[in-house]
Amino acid sequence: HYLGIDVGTSAVKAILVDERQTTIAEADVSLPISRPQDLWSEQDPESWWQAVQTGLDHLDAKDAAALADVRAIGLSGQMHGAVLLDAANRPLRPAILWNDGRSYREAQELGTQHPALARAMGVIPMPGFTAPKLVWLARHEPETFRAVRKVLLPKDYIRLQLTGAIVTDMSDAAGTWWLDEAERDWSDEALAATGLTRDHMAILVEGSQASGTVKPEIARRWGIRSDVVVAGGAGDAAAGAVGMGAIRDGSAFISLGTSGQLLVTTENFSPAPEALVHSFCHAVPGRWFQMAAMLNGASCLAWAANLLKRDIGELLRETEAAYRKPSDILFLPYLAGERTPHNDPHARGVFFGLSPDTQQTDMAQSVLEGVAYSFADAKRALEQAGTPLTQAGIIGGGSKSQFWTKIFASVLNIPIIRYQGSDKGPAFGAARLARLAVTGEAPEDVCIAPSVLETVEPDPQLSELYRPRIESFRSLYRALKPEFT
Ligand code: XUL
Repeated sequence: HYLGIDVGTSAVKAILVDERQTTIAEADVSLPISRPQDLWSEQDPESWWQAVQTGLDHLDAKDAAALADVRAIGLSGQMHGAVLLDAANRPLRPAILWNDGRSYREAQELGTQHPALARAMGVIPMPGFTAPKLVWLARHEPETFRAVRKVLLPKDYIRLQLTGAIVTDMSDAAGTWWLDEAERDWSDEALAATGLTRDHMAILVEGSQASGTVKPEIARRWGIRSDVVVAGGAGDAAAGAVGMGAIRDGSAFISLGTSGQLLVTTENFSPAPEALVHSFCHAVPGRWFQMAAMLNGASCLAWAANLLKRDIGELLRETEAAYRKPSDILFLPYLAGERTPHNDPHARGVFFGLSPDTQQTDMAQSVLEGVAYSFADAKRALEQAGTPLTQAGIIGGGSKSQFWTKIFASVLNIPIIRYQGSDKGPAFGAARLARLAVTGEAPEDVCIAPSVLETVEPDPQLSELYRPRIESFRSLYRALKPEFT
């Protein structure tokens, strides 16, 4: 058996997979997030570790025999977070997350001072990335900055607890803005630009390589074997790709989790920083990907359902029953600001076009459409990066909704493929990387696409109606941009 653990933003997910790649047991443990100031987004690394331990307890209770039989563990996690460790490997402060916008000035300065680095790092510096956060820290919390001995990514803090090793993988390191993506190595120049050196960084391995073995006390506590290997693993974007078999040139998918991503795997490193596309190392050797990264995905629906005090499934059913045509209401989904295509941490959510007749279902429909419109922008960004899309898979919590997927297909005007078990995404991909680390199989043989549930075709009439709505969505943001800052 193989164990995949994904340290997400809203939850830790752990899944046990057997040799036939069937999921045997899973556990979900939700995580709190704190926003102590405007633009800030933080989590305590200890809360991740607590949640992982609870998840392992749940798996132990569900199927102790399968857990005892685990050969390898794979880790996946939210990308870009800054976990700052002291000399004793203890967190110095809460981790600063991927959707934290506080370092926008520092990001801009890095871009201006080091224009040539954007291509090598695969993307322009944006406030969610790890590097600008360290410049912010040096400026605003100088004592903490001086005490930093290691900077880790979220999932690598879990590796530290499990194995004692300070290691990261290429695909997660890719999102720090310190990795030379073509060389698959830390960039001394980018590190120096933020006052750091290689000594502050973890050791780099490929996602499908071993990074260490579990500590004896961990093995004892959950009754797992003491020689269990922990694989490099991956940032959640690449782990999601591995989970759905997108490791070949040109395979594309939409990830509709807390955040949103449109990702295409590439055989070569293909930077397009001017399109605000992220060109990052993949989780398997000799592969890269291009990604449009949006900060607001299915989180928008969860937010709306919570405000309306409605169950998400029920709200979706009612909205689908009431659906006739594209909504007259526009929703800008930028609750947490936006990365691709705006690089605007100050952007915020907007409902536009409310009337005395507006119902809950109209608002909910506009939320579903607003997120889909932001993916139309993502598709355009990838086109500008030289990668036009003709079809895409869909994974993440949002992919469970056929209705939402239909809206996506008509808005993007491409067929979208739904897969079995697609909501397990990154944790499942992490379990595959665990397997690769101990079996030596070829990635192509293990990372196959899951069974197709259905291919959702665009409705040509709706696509026609959606086209001008996408333009209005774009011009609404343009008109409001000065008001956000
Ligand atoms: C990707 C990104 C998010 C996080 C959240 O660039 O910022 O998807 O990885 O999980």
